[in-house]
Amino acid sequence: MIIAPSLLAADHGKLAAEVERTERSRADWLHLDIMDGHFVPNLSFGPDVARIVRSHSRKLFLDVHLMCSRPEILIGPFAQNGADLVTVHAELGEKVEGLIWKIRSLGKKVGLAVNPPTSMSAAQPFLKKIDLLLVMTVNPGFGGQPFLEEVLTKIQQAYLWRKAQNLSYRIEVDGGIKFDTAAECAKAGADTFVSGTGLYKHRNMKWAVEKMRKAVTKAHRQD
Ligand code: DX5
Ligand code: ZN
Repeated sequence: MIIAPSLLAADHGKLAAEVERTERSRADWLHLDIMDGHFVPNLSFGPDVARIVRSHSRKLFLDVHLMCSRPEILIGPFAQNGADLVTVHAELGEKVEGLIWKIRSLGKKVGLAVNPPTSMSAAQPFLKKIDLLLVMTVNPGFGGQPFLEEVLTKIQQAYLWRKAQNLSYRIEVDGGIKFDTAAECAKAGADTFVSGTGLYKHRNMKWAVEKMRKAVTKAHRQD
């Protein structure tokens, strides 16, 4: 199981300290939510923040989620500034094939994200080419939103496809992930959990990460 705090929910006024706190929490990954004000109605941060994050954490795997209409201009800069995995959105349609190739050509892991209203069929053609399938559990753009229960069937679908085709992509969820909703997603088949407010709001982040890890390990489907 992978626990991936989302930096979006950290205190940006003390970024270095928050990165170090995340590392001390024994989280596995650090999730960077990159928003362009076009694909989603919000702006977050750019490649320079990835460089700063990387300089304050050697251990954390940087999971970069590009909620951007033109990720082709950002994949290179994030790859050069410490990204380990780059996720693009299936909603970009015919651009997806080229984006996957570009991420791969830079030696990075590849993620593909699907928004709640988007059919899982948008991701199906790419399942053999990705390392991670991100099933969004809120409509992207803001942290602290309520979890959308109706997405659970999409997580189940991702799990069944992976099993049927003997593939190995990770199944990640992002948005409204707290201890209880994380367990629901694990039960449906998720194994990688992005959580922003659900983790950073706890003074003892190590306790929160451990509690989430225990919850998802206990609930994860075994079939
Ligand atoms: C949505 C963002 C959020 C963020 C996590 O665009 O991707 O889902 O990562 O937000 P919380 O965990 O606070 O709901
Ligand atoms: Zn995200």
